[in-house]
Amino acid sequence: MKSHANTKVLFVCLGNICRSPAAEGIMKKKAEGLPIEIDSAGTAGYHIGELPDSRMRSHASKRGYHLTSRARQFDAAVDFEKFDYIVVMDENNKRSIEYLDRRKHYHQKISLMTEYCQTMQADEVPDPYYGGPDGFEHVLDILEDACSGLLKKIMNESSAP
Ligand code: 4NP
Repeated sequence: MKSHANTKVLFVCLGNICRSPAAEGIMKKKAEGLPIEIDSAGTAGYHIGELPDSRMRSHASKRGYHLTSRARQFDAAVDFEKFDYIVVMDENNKRSIEYLDRRKHYHQKISLMTEYCQTMQADEVPDPYYGGPDGFEHVLDILEDACSGLLKKIMNESSAP
């Protein structure tokens, strides 16, 4: 049996203050005790060093997720090589990441978060930043579903002969 030690997952959105830190917090809780490394980053640098958006922190904490990471920007020089899964929240940000992978060396590591959804129907994880409270709840619903699906995939791959 292959070990799933050192599987490294990076969630990516635009600002790294709403969607990807929430995905990071949810996945960390679901994967507690498993040797899976989980991080998040933004394609943009507007919010570097900030805590997640207070609205996202508040909605997430009601579900038991305490988001404490600080925003950072995706670093092509390090992150493509380091992470096994680079999981992006929407098509715009996926294009930004793919653009940074000009030679397509890391193409197979890049996926959309919604590919892992098991029950929710969604093409993307929508940007909640300019919307209301329902948008944050909707994002968390998608992320919880997709994190479960992604964890299942990682565990299946780890136990493959
Ligand atoms: P995120 O949300 O990409 O899920 O972190 C956003 C955060 C900030 C901005 C846009 C989206 N912004 O325009 O500053």
